[in-house]
Amino acid sequence: MPIFGTEGIGIDIGTTQTSIFLNSEDEVALREPTSVLVNGENMQEVLAVGQEARAMLGRTARELELISPVQLGAVADVDMTALLMVALAEKATGRKRPMEKATLVAGLSGGATKVERAALFQAMNATGAKRVAALRTPVAAAIGADLDISKPRGTMIVSLGGGCTEIAVLSMNSIVALRKIFFGGQDLDEAIVRWFWRKKKVVIGMRTAEQLKREVGTVCEEDAGEDEEPVLLKGKNALTGAPASVQVSPRDIMQALDEPVQRIVDALRNALYNTPPELSADIRDRGLFITGGGALLNGLDRRLARETGLTIHMSRHPQDDAVIGLGAAAANDRLLSALIRASAAEATGD
Ligand SMILES: Nc1ncnc2c1ncn2[C@@H]1O[C@H](COP(=O)(O)OP(=O)(O)OP(=O)(O)O)[C@@H](O)[C@H]1O
Ligand SMILES: [Mg+2]
Repeated sequence: MPIFGTEGIGIDIGTTQTSIFLNSEDEVALREPTSVLVNGENMQEVLAVGQEARAMLGRTARELELISPVQLGAVADVDMTALLMVALAEKATGRKRPMEKATLVAGLSGGATKVERAALFQAMNATGAKRVAALRTPVAAAIGADLDISKPRGTMIVSLGGGCTEIAVLSMNSIVALRKIFFGGQDLDEAIVRWFWRKKKVVIGMRTAEQLKREVGTVCEEDAGEDEEPVLLKGKNALTGAPASVQVSPRDIMQALDEPVQRIVDALRNALYNTPPELSADIRDRGLFITGGGALLNGLDRRLARETGLTIHMSRHPQDDAVIGLGAAAANDRLLSALIRASAAEATGD
């Protein structure tokens, strides 16, 4: 409910996906690609954003370019980021100047530097929001996943995003240890593209690769049995350029993902190995929480459980955890102040 006419808006602007939580509706109002479609000859001319931008690409005669204003988890283009936030908030709320009376709380990646933080604030201020604040995404995700992180007890949360993977240990509402690798879902998609080229001599696009990862992919041996139905995939012959079709099974995608997933596993093992003993004991007791869109990868929970010996937990909506936490803080002044106070003492990027 809006308090004194102000509304809480949580926005998680990630490398691949942007989502908005509206407190007036108590739900995730929208999740769309972090994409802006511009005129290739005049980059200032914006033609569409989000889903619409993706849909238009390659379907008009004009010279168009698809831009992602967020790269590797950080704001790379302030103006485009502001424009994207306003346009998507307009769509979510159904009104013009959606930020006018709003408290806007955005997600800032765990390892963000001072410069990256400043860029996010510039973009938020440019949206015309009444009040702005930023929270670290691992903290927001923990709140969105309903984890109690206010106690002096370590909670490990692994965020599997499109551009990066962050492994954070949280305690008393802040990050006490963090490891970040610039390696995420997009790198898994690239690995699938490369695998098809190498093993099947077929060229497929990144979007097809992403779809295969979601719909056919698995990273667990027991899901890749012989009786799994193969799907027919259309691509281009890598040598002749002629249209080609190829059968794809879960086992193929498992092979393609084996090495990149191992990289994530290694980062996690490394983080666990380097965690101070007091926190390690808490993590052993509580298990590991996974969040972000990448947590939905089929079999990942079981693979991580096997590789670390820990119990793996996930909310029912891992891709929305962060934005739900941001939205909750945007609507609750006490929570927001407590989180901002706690993060002031953090030993992260700034
Ligand atoms: N069912 C699924 N299986 C595997 N991967 C998935 C699934 N659903 C979404 N993803 C992947 O999750 C990623 C997006 O997750 P998320 O929205 O958390 O990232 P982001 O916030 O855009 O990126 P970052 O946090 O790195 O800036 C994409 O790479 C997408 O392909
Ligand atoms: Mg994210």
